[in-house]
Amino acid sequence: MTTTCFTRPTFTSRVVPVIVLNDAAHAVPLAHALLAGGIDVMEITLRSSAALAAIEAVARAVPEMQVGAGTITRVADVARVVDAGASFALSPGCTDALVHAVRVAGLPFVPGVMTPGEVMRTRDMGFELMKLFPAAQAGGLAMLKALSGPLPDVAFCPTGGISPDNLADFLALPNVAMAGGSWLTPADALSQGDWARITRLASEATQSAKNVSI
Ligand code: 3PG
Repeated sequence: MTTTCFTRPTFTSRVVPVIVLNDAAHAVPLAHALLAGGIDVMEITLRSSAALAAIEAVARAVPEMQVGAGTITRVADVARVVDAGASFALSPGCTDALVHAVRVAGLPFVPGVMTPGEVMRTRDMGFELMKLFPAAQAGGLAMLKALSGPLPDVAFCPTGGISPDNLADFLALPNVAMAGGSWLTPADALSQGDWARITRLASEATQSAKNVSI
């Protein structure tokens, strides 16, 4: 056990697109579309067979984009995403084995939590930024407000149920560092290559985040 803060990813965007890519050829145009909308981070989830090739393509061709891997649930995932060039990883949960693997790999990691006990245990492991997942089912805004009382030193990235309608409310909470979701990269926009729509969604989210911090 350590009390040292474990390396956490740093990116300027407070909005994290949670992406399921079925075609790795979409990865680079998608990265440019998000950057055009002010978002410099991508969480490409390991939920499709194209994910690793997509991470690799962005890492190689779009250096201004920070590309990370999502849905890391097994130790074996860690080496695969590091080899692909992921600069960080997120998980819906947290296990001792995963934490050991990301530490050995030196991979910045955002573990998932859903209860106060999980937050405390994960903080004991040295993490200060955690993914609250699934955020809506965990209690959403009310849960984050409740956690800030006894656990004020933990920052969260809520995902699961975040939308343009509630994004600003989440980002306005002092213990929310960033929020993630799939609404920025709808499946139909990806399959149609509608990059303009994705840039528009990204710009709207970026504007919401800016309005909150003004
Ligand atoms: C995640 O993996 O972070 C969530 O499944 C994203 O949830 P959403 O589709 O409700 O944004």
